[in-house]
Amino acid sequence: MAIRRKPEELRSHRWYGVDNLRSFGHRSRSAQMGYSRADYLGKPVIAIINTWSDINPCHSHFRQRAEEVKRGIWQAGGFPVEMPAITLSEPFQKPTTMLYRNLLAMETEELLRSYPADGCVLMGGCDKTTPALLMGAISMNLPAIFMPAGPMLRGDWRGGTLGSGSDVWKYWAELRAGNITDDTWQEIENGIARSPGHCMTMGTASTMTSATEAMGFTLPGAASIPAADSRHARMATDTGRRIVDMVWEDLKPRDVVDAAAIDNAITAVLALGGSTNAIVHLVAIARRAGVALSLDRFDAIARKTPLVANLRPAGKYLMEDFFYAGGLRALLASIGDLLTPTARTVNGRTLGENIAGAEIFDRDVIRPRDNPLVANDSLAVLRGNLAPDGAVIKPAAAEARLLRHTGPAIAFADYNDMAARIDDPALPVTADSVLVLKHAGPLGAPGMPEWGQLPIPKKLLAAGVRDMLRISDARMSGTSYGACVLHVAPESFVGGTLALVEDGDLIELDVPARRLELKVGDAELARRRAAWKRPAPKFERGFGALYQQHITQANHGCDFDFLEGTAPTPDPEIH
Ligand code: FES
Repeated sequence: MAIRRKPEELRSHRWYGVDNLRSFGHRSRSAQMGYSRADYLGKPVIAIINTWSDINPCHSHFRQRAEEVKRGIWQAGGFPVEMPAITLSEPFQKPTTMLYRNLLAMETEELLRSYPADGCVLMGGCDKTTPALLMGAISMNLPAIFMPAGPMLRGDWRGGTLGSGSDVWKYWAELRAGNITDDTWQEIENGIARSPGHCMTMGTASTMTSATEAMGFTLPGAASIPAADSRHARMATDTGRRIVDMVWEDLKPRDVVDAAAIDNAITAVLALGGSTNAIVHLVAIARRAGVALSLDRFDAIARKTPLVANLRPAGKYLMEDFFYAGGLRALLASIGDLLTPTARTVNGRTLGENIAGAEIFDRDVIRPRDNPLVANDSLAVLRGNLAPDGAVIKPAAAEARLLRHTGPAIAFADYNDMAARIDDPALPVTADSVLVLKHAGPLGAPGMPEWGQLPIPKKLLAAGVRDMLRISDARMSGTSYGACVLHVAPESFVGGTLALVEDGDLIELDVPARRLELKVGDAELARRRAAWKRPAPKFERGFGALYQQHITQANHGCDFDFLEGTAPTPDPEIH
């Protein structure tokens, strides 16, 4: 360990180490909690930002894990202070956790700023918790290490496996098509989530924790360990031990997160067949670190990155299988030539050093380079008059016939309109129609919910149709699949071209050419634009009002404009 700081240089010294009226208060109140001076004086104070909650099933082991993190901090000579922060529970929080990602980011940053923290352990995993914690910690720029929640065990049903989300969408379609019974549906309900941990498909949670590891923000191998495995508990203690040394070394997030680290994270996401949500989050994370990241960078890296993880929803297996097959270290080692191996990581070594020698133990789960699941282009960024600022699609998750497709639009004004009409037998929809959903973006929904995988109309399901071209300014769950064009920017609520689409308009998608066009003449579009009226804002007060004043569009990462960038915010005065 290269010690760069002395005890009196610790940030917490201003609270505990000086001799004045306020430090008397800090010490006497620590004594009130049962701590003597020897417990904390001259030691790094480590904030454990814990997103545990009774309503977050993905973090139900976090009370225990926090104790294991503390054990490591004590052992290494630090002083642990657990700080609960708002949880973002994907299944329960409405209208969407995305509405609150920036709130957790702000809370993380301000907790660290306003209390005597010298470093922090970030405990997250359920979808938005990971980017939120990272964004806050990067902005505060104190030594920080991420402890991923780990995926839950494989779902179990009738001797087979079930995957979070992916199998819900699959069997929901079968239930609606009349192919399975309500009793069967309930059996699936009871077997699909059977341990602590986040979704165990390559959904947003697994995508973002893996991206975080590839970015250098976790101990090597941490993101792949199932939550219920004892190795996960040991990783938690190792994480606690490591953060104390990071404080003495003064190793901070912006020493780790640079353009190369972001590229490594994007490459990992693409090789994993990760969630499209990673695009929005990585753009926001990069901007907090002062790295300019555009959608085009994702497209450029996608063109040369093979999808080698055979994981649902793109492939067959689940995260537990991935861990046994060697996990993220093995996958990254197999695509090492596409990474920047010199990128620094939180354990003090480079990414290249951390993945050196990692082996693949099952070559059907982590495919060899000469037999990938998809050779390249597992993600594509589209542009055209329908999405001048970009839109995204995951071609690997779509039926190939739809990747070059022109069809007539069925335009839904919002989610409620879609829900009311999608199964109407009179809806003039065919397998060639293009389903368009408006008002599902950052402002329109609000919160850009995961509505982008619009349901296939019941009459088409009964006829055997399982995929259609769907376009929206929404996001899509990382566990979803289908020919869904997402993140259309600018969104319809602010007058993007999506707002002007009418029933019967022809829409052309050409993924190889990266094109998305509304085939309506300029004069007619100008007429519609002149007649368009901006809808009234959704919120008149509260957090929603703050959100709608400052949220940025999808291609800019949906951060609050006043949180972007690296301008310093001063530490508090202590008077
Ligand atoms: Fe928490 Fe999927 S519900 S990760």
